[in-house]
Amino acid sequence: MSIRFLKNEKRFVINTKNTTYAFEIVFDRYLCHTYYGKRTSKLPAAKMTMLSFAPYIPELDEHKSPDVFAQECSFYGSGDFRPNALRLCTDGTGVTDFVYSSHRTFKGRLELDGLPAARADENTQTLEVTLKDSVSGCKLKLYYTVFADVDVISRYMVIENKGKKSVRIDKCMPMMLDIERSDLDMISLYGSHCHEVNFQRVPLHHGKQSVYSNRGASSHQYNPFVALCDHGATEQKGEVYGFNFVYSGSFLDEVDVDQIGRTRVLMGLGSECFSYTLEAGESFCSPEAVMTYSAAGIGKMSRNFHNFVRTYIMPPVSLEPHPVVLNTWEACYFDIDEEKLINFAKEAKKTGFDMLVMDDGWFGARDHDRAGLGDWFENRKKFPDGLASFVKKIKAEGVKFGIWVEPEMVNPDSDLYRAHPEWALRVAGREPLRSRHQLVLDMSNSEVVEYLIALFDKTFDGVDIDYFKWDMNRHMSNVGSSVLPEDKQGEVFFRYMKGVYRLFDWFVKRFPNAVIETCSGGGGRYDLGMMQYGIQIWTSDNTNPYDRTMIQSAAMIAYPAATMSCHVSDPHGDMRSLDYRYKVAVGGMLGYELNILKMSDEIKNKIAEQIKEYKTFDHIARLGDHYNLASPTKYGYSAYYYTTPTADEILLTVIEKADCKAGTTKLLKISAAQNDASYTDVRTGKQYSGQALRKGISVELLGERDSAHLYYFKKN
Ligand code: DGJ
Repeated sequence: MSIRFLKNEKRFVINTKNTTYAFEIVFDRYLCHTYYGKRTSKLPAAKMTMLSFAPYIPELDEHKSPDVFAQECSFYGSGDFRPNALRLCTDGTGVTDFVYSSHRTFKGRLELDGLPAARADENTQTLEVTLKDSVSGCKLKLYYTVFADVDVISRYMVIENKGKKSVRIDKCMPMMLDIERSDLDMISLYGSHCHEVNFQRVPLHHGKQSVYSNRGASSHQYNPFVALCDHGATEQKGEVYGFNFVYSGSFLDEVDVDQIGRTRVLMGLGSECFSYTLEAGESFCSPEAVMTYSAAGIGKMSRNFHNFVRTYIMPPVSLEPHPVVLNTWEACYFDIDEEKLINFAKEAKKTGFDMLVMDDGWFGARDHDRAGLGDWFENRKKFPDGLASFVKKIKAEGVKFGIWVEPEMVNPDSDLYRAHPEWALRVAGREPLRSRHQLVLDMSNSEVVEYLIALFDKTFDGVDIDYFKWDMNRHMSNVGSSVLPEDKQGEVFFRYMKGVYRLFDWFVKRFPNAVIETCSGGGGRYDLGMMQYGIQIWTSDNTNPYDRTMIQSAAMIAYPAATMSCHVSDPHGDMRSLDYRYKVAVGGMLGYELNILKMSDEIKNKIAEQIKEYKTFDHIARLGDHYNLASPTKYGYSAYYYTTPTADEILLTVIEKADCKAGTTKLLKISAAQNDASYTDVRTGKQYSGQALRKGISVELLGERDSAHLYYFKKN
């Protein structure tokens, strides 16, 4: 059993393969957190102390205060002055006082009311702890679901309005972890469009530090993932706590160091973009947040999350080979038509591609980005015989077919907007701001979602589509819905995401043979919510291999290679650049976006060789364990390897950055190699003993433009 309740101690103990998590019921009311760390049976008891100015309940013990002890969930106004997990307004004050009421443990897990969540398997167990606020009559259920094999525990909460009047949730943070120390670094990922997921590591300081999105999408600007680690933690050693949120909309991650140097981590729906009214009898289910712990450095924390995401989050089909696609965007932008793309398909087939992905530009009046979004029917000038006939012709050339959509958006210059301006997010009396000439559809309005379902159902009926690329190219401003009353406008961000997930669910069911690549102007929704639907995410609109090296390296701290869609773009006739781009792209799921009709035979032949080689080793990155040897943010190069679980096959990559210095030889230790095995580097035929790989392989950095080194070690 992963979850136990020790009656005498009133203690809950959750064990995963390598970790233990524990908390206790104190005074029959508080849930006091007592331990999260390396697996142990020697658990400390709840530490209850007092500080001056800390409030207490007189009849319980005036020497103990909720402001001082570690809690499982804290409530605004109830004596804990640190940032709280829940602010529920039942009487205008926001003050509640939830106390322990009951608990149960069960196999599997419950559905999360229209939200993505990690899948249960036969070993999954869940703990449900119910708390009650006697004055309002509201119930709060805390859920802990255990993925023991990958050392991950997830948390979410359900609020039930059992009272007689409406209540309003102002803040709802399903992840809360109190850690009895603050000598930690915080790792987070920040960025911007085309420069996603930069690695940041800074020591914690007193007060609040946070990452967040107010943009309606998890965003390029801050990823929901955060980690806390020992100041001295490295890839291989030190304590590391990792956290992530299974959600794609606005979020808040707060880390607070309090007056005596303890740390509180909160993750969830923060107040700026969130409030939610529950009428009497209604309930609210939060998205889930996940945590992992590693006693063996940052690398182990990453591998825990990689395993978790592959096994419990991504669609099972993502474990199979991903198609090597030729995407039309950078090659053609909006300038596409049937004849051109059939020629693309012919060349794609000859070069060894699996699939042609027709990007933006195929529908409505979409000759540029100022028109057409919302009009999801084929442009007959470009496809005179219709979509179904066009796709048949593409398939006749021997490649699969993918198509681009951006369902959540509308251009003011579109038939849809002209018919339904009220379907765009807007605030009465205020002119909505534009971004990329577009507005955001009100996905919180079920009429809009049902309209899109009916439209896509008709447009794609009988069209043999293998792959959707689902894009989202602006953030939300002027967020208001024409169908919600004034006091419910704060719900739009959350209801929007539920509308989006409803549409994703529909796509998945309606087109069971197709897979989805998600995208938001590149990596603007690189999150666990999207990963539930897509086999991969378009990592960035930036295909410059130098920048991509930085982006991919940082993304790997939280997400497995299987999620990273990585394209080789036009090398402009330069064979060395083509090789470099390829070696960068095989760190994730390989694809290309270049005008195949304009490539020389030499380039096409090389691409054909690359695709052929990639297919011999793509399983190692897709399914294997990742070991980071050198981060490009710190050094002039990036070095990492993937290995199959038994280390029969190992793929080592070294990418030199532009500022990499010549004349240095690096010793790269492949510690996962089998000690008594011998290996062949398939690319050169050179032999290595496992011991030698473990001791380290010398790689000379050339310090030249576009210099990268790839080794494919296979056990003899
Ligand atoms: C942004 C995406 O990230 C690109 O790859 C491309 O699909 C464009 N949108 C199309 O408008």
